[in-house]
Amino acid sequence: MKALVIYDSVSDAKVTKKVAETVQATLNENGVQTSLMFVDDAAKANLKDYDAVVFGAPTMAWRPSKKMKDYLAGLKNEYAGKKAATFDTQMDSAISGNANKHMEKDLKAAGFTIVGTPLLAYVTSVKKVYTLNDGQLDKIKNWSKDLADILKK
Ligand SMILES: Cc1cc2nc3c(=O)[nH]c(=O)nc-3n(C[C@H](O)[C@H](O)[C@H](O)COP(=O)(O)O)c2cc1C
Repeated sequence: MKALVIYDSVSDAKVTKKVAETVQATLNENGVQTSLMFVDDAAKANLKDYDAVVFGAPTMAWRPSKKMKDYLAGLKNEYAGKKAATFDTQMDSAISGNANKHMEKDLKAAGFTIVGTPLLAYVTSVKKVYTLNDGQLDKIKNWSKDLADILKK
């Protein structure tokens, strides 16, 4: 079982990158051989080399960040049989929007089968610096462990 995590991360704090690194490390610890790639480099990757791809993006203007949105919109419908899962970072608010929903829609259009439930990692901004909320790191690790179990089935 080989997996790839593709992420975007925009702010100087690089919160989504940290989430992506935690997802990668936890998948590896739980028996899924997982690589990590910034979305800028993803065009060079052949997603067909992997059994599963995990996509993560900051929520910006209620949607995935622009680079992730553009990358996913560019995928052709040629990934039937491949598994995908998504995570986003977002404020813990009723009006945060849902980047995961948009990513899932594009991934389904490209033929991927979505596995598991999307991960919402909550952030707070203090003086325009974003950090993960308390408890999120454990949530991310638990989500990744559950994802590893699903992928290994
Ligand atoms: C221009 C802009 C728009 C944003 N829009 C949203 C939004 O619609 N919903 C939300 O929950 N957070 C929003 N945020 C907060 C981002 O989700 C936050 O910057 C991100 O989680 C930080 O991750 P990063 O460090 O990986 O970029 C926005 C931030 C910026 C700078």
